[in-house]
Amino acid sequence: MSKGTYYITTPIYYPSSKLHIGHTYTTVAADAMARFKRATGYDVKFLTGTDEHGQKLQRAAEEKGLKPKEYIDDIVEGIKKLWETMEISYDIFIRTTDDYHKRRVQEIFKKLYEKGDIYKGEYEGWYCTPCEAFWTETQVTEGKCPDCGRPVELTKEESYFFRLSKYQDALLKHFEENPEFLEPASRKNEMINNFLKPGLEDLCISRTSFNWGIPVPIDEKHVIYVWLDALSNYITALGYPEEQEGDYQKYWPADVHLVGKEIVRFHTIIWPAMLMALEIPLPKKVFGHGWILLEGGKMSKSKGNVVDPVVLSERYGVDALKYFLLREYSFGQDGIFTNEVLLNRINSDLANDLGNLVSRTVAMIDKYNGGIIPEPKVDGAFDEDLKNIAISVSTKLEEKMNKLDFSNALEEIWKLVRRTNKYIDETAPWVLAKDDANKNRLDTVLYNLADCIRIISVLIQPFMHSTTRKIWVQLGIDHGQGTEWNDTFHFGKLPAGVKVNKQEALFPRIDIAKELEALVAASGAKEEVQPKEEEKPLEIKPEILYDDFAKLDLRVGEVLECKKHPKADKLLVLQVKLGSETRQIVSGIAQHFKPEELVGKKVVVVVNLKPVVLRGEESRGMILSAEADGRLSLVTADAESGAEVR
Ligand code: ME8
Ligand code: MG
Repeated sequence: MSKGTYYITTPIYYPSSKLHIGHTYTTVAADAMARFKRATGYDVKFLTGTDEHGQKLQRAAEEKGLKPKEYIDDIVEGIKKLWETMEISYDIFIRTTDDYHKRRVQEIFKKLYEKGDIYKGEYEGWYCTPCEAFWTETQVTEGKCPDCGRPVELTKEESYFFRLSKYQDALLKHFEENPEFLEPASRKNEMINNFLKPGLEDLCISRTSFNWGIPVPIDEKHVIYVWLDALSNYITALGYPEEQEGDYQKYWPADVHLVGKEIVRFHTIIWPAMLMALEIPLPKKVFGHGWILLEGGKMSKSKGNVVDPVVLSERYGVDALKYFLLREYSFGQDGIFTNEVLLNRINSDLANDLGNLVSRTVAMIDKYNGGIIPEPKVDGAFDEDLKNIAISVSTKLEEKMNKLDFSNALEEIWKLVRRTNKYIDETAPWVLAKDDANKNRLDTVLYNLADCIRIISVLIQPFMHSTTRKIWVQLGIDHGQGTEWNDTFHFGKLPAGVKVNKQEALFPRIDIAKELEALVAASGAKEEVQPKEEEKPLEIKPEILYDDFAKLDLRVGEVLECKKHPKADKLLVLQVKLGSETRQIVSGIAQHFKPEELVGKKVVVVVNLKPVVLRGEESRGMILSAEADGRLSLVTADAESGAEVR
């Protein structure tokens, strides 16, 4: 009997040849949630897919001399294979180039047009191609995208517009009346204060300067803006608007859209406004998770420091990688990835805590009872405490999971893992085994250990189902022998009399020092194999006269203080000493540097740039940096602060 339906989605991924563990993170989380809901009795629909249109992809294909679809098809196959490797249990994989999706998006466009929520006009403003996002003059800082810090392009073309502004009040009201609509709560304030309160502008939703997209049905020289196309996937995948009786009726509205924090704005402003315009219900929740970062900044292919989920899962197993991602990082917040945190986590929680528990228990059942799980006979000290903890985990786990708090959900299970290990030390079966008079007590202890492992094996199933199976093999049980979710609420469901099967360690202990070296060597070797990108000729701007250059006043400045901008993730606020004067400068480099790294640096500053206010902080000047392949380095000078740079 089903407890109801549960519809969960990941973002649809841009086809990029190497998805890193950051992308894997969203999907692994969605998979754990989908499996958890299935295990606890829901009828689940889990959607993922690929976002295949837009200027960025057209350009990437052109660079390779391929047609967009040719370029994309291989990559999408790779993504599907990655999800297979990661054992992702999605129900639908949508590609925005699928015919049904294209047709349905055109229907959606027509509906909005006929309603009067789409009109024709002219767009003039800025466009960030990597983010596929439009920005206004005031949002753009120093010619850079306020989200990713990369250069924006001036765009002027005939366009269709969506009346986003019309929905501003309704959106504000929705946020106010539905505190659970966007989580974590901190992201809600950002949306309200930075976007809704200042006022929404109508959104440009068609482009004519390139053609890799779904044609506007009423005007074929336009293609539909890639975000309108992409967001619609959550309903076109269910049949909307053609087939509203089947899956659409059953599963919409979505229970949760899982998205990374940088795309929360699209999912909680543009998407709900579209749905309001279509007069259909809004998703119940959007959860904006944090980023997994490398020590120097965001993980990205262009920085050359990608962490490959395939390599990691080959070395440590898919389950170890999934466990690590969900346990190590708090889902709503950013976290730093290093090889060392990964290896430490695997060793402590998986090799030591869980792996040892299973291997010690099975070994003792082999040694003290001929490999047969004994009947429990006499209760003793510690039993009650152990059992109480064992049967209370599932309730606590459900609470945490329903908040998408994966890390603490796993911690609840590990409290039992550690408690059970402690029980071994408390009861000391090897001491009991010395005296036949203690045989009944020894049997009970062994049974209790095995039954706790049974409960643990069922509880970890949403996160690491292969490990669940491996544990069942070791316990000698199969499906239906105390292995249902409901059986985790009860002690004693493990059948006595079955024969255990000692197997190799679930998670072999890693020699961390050695493995760290091997990882470095492995990544070094890889670099040699990879062909170097062809060097492109420099694109040099038109010549200028010396007088033009002389207008710039460049000075050496010493960074005295540096902190994060209170309202913008991409910005740092610096206090820079220029001779006798100290100025505040806001710079879009937060993704590349930690504030403390910059203090004491002598940087080069354009001091006569007109001051601007960036999200409430005044900026008087600009710091120079050099960029290649997304890697930023500050221009520094070994000279007195205030010195002129010529
Ligand atoms: O944004 N840490 O696709 P995408 C955590 N096509 N999450 C990360 C991450 C990291 N280092 N890097 C990426 C798109 N992600 C659009 C979505 S939905 C209608 C369209 C996450 O391939 C990122 O936050 O750039 C996002 O949730 C997902 O990977 C897909 O990113
Ligand atoms: Mg993205």
